[in-house]
Amino acid sequence: MAEILDGLKVSKEIKAEIKTEVEKILEGKRRAPHLVAILVGNNGASKAYVNSKVKDCEEVGFRSTLLKFPSTVSESELLEKIDDLNKSKSVDGFIVQLPLPDQIDQEKIIKAIDPRKDVDGFHPENFGKMALEMDTFLPATPFGILTLLERYNIETKGKDCVIIGRSKIVGRPMSILMGRKDFPGNSTVTLTHSYTKDIEEYTKKADIVITALGDPHFLKGSMIKDGSVIVDVGITRVEDDSPKGYYLAGDVDFDSCSAKASWITPVPGGVGPMTRAMLMKNTLIAYKTSVYND
Ligand code: GUN
Repeated sequence: MAEILDGLKVSKEIKAEIKTEVEKILEGKRRAPHLVAILVGNNGASKAYVNSKVKDCEEVGFRSTLLKFPSTVSESELLEKIDDLNKSKSVDGFIVQLPLPDQIDQEKIIKAIDPRKDVDGFHPENFGKMALEMDTFLPATPFGILTLLERYNIETKGKDCVIIGRSKIVGRPMSILMGRKDFPGNSTVTLTHSYTKDIEEYTKKADIVITALGDPHFLKGSMIKDGSVIVDVGITRVEDDSPKGYYLAGDVDFDSCSAKASWITPVPGGVGPMTRAMLMKNTLIAYKTSVYND
């Protein structure tokens, strides 16, 4: 029976550590770190994510600002706002919640963000630095997974790690990070995706499986090796009869996989809260390295 990689517990520890640092900052009569979030349109999941980011800021003592735009906003309007935020001396970091409406070129928006304020770690300069093992902002979900593996001291060196899904914000960066010369890292990484002929062929041999697919209960116990480490990034809203109208499902079939794995992340309470905590961590890093704070 697998032990739980308790992301909720570790995320609370990290937020408490950040809060302590903020208290010291305030005692020194400096301003609090400030995160700005841009939300475009009415996507329910995006609204929920952004609201929780604002709540996290309150919890750790950061200042936060939520900027809402209608789904009809023009690209130039958004670019203007980004330019303002890049120049603002009171903003340490900001994020543009994705996805964006079709009329907006997501790549153009991400490239417009000053890499020093790109606390999502999505800017090509930061992604490149990550790949080159230079200091930079790591995207929050991969950063959260690394931190969870680190705090539970999960051995990754020399292990076979299979990642399912090659998204730019999770699977692809994760594949780079697990292969880097560091801890966690030094794994032999296989990045599988929609054109992989037989995913099971890989997952069955893997010591570590990281799923970021968005396909509820995709990974079954029959597809994994005894003693493997299973990290579930999936978080899909599945409609049900509950008052909320949905429940949150991971990519992993928890019951059958936890019977075989040595460690496993639950959904909810695994990777999700870690992602949220790491955005706070990145914002604190942005604050501390800010050219305006010396
Ligand atoms: N959409 C889904 N995940 C993320 C994230 O981590 N950051 C942003 N900006 N948008 C997202």
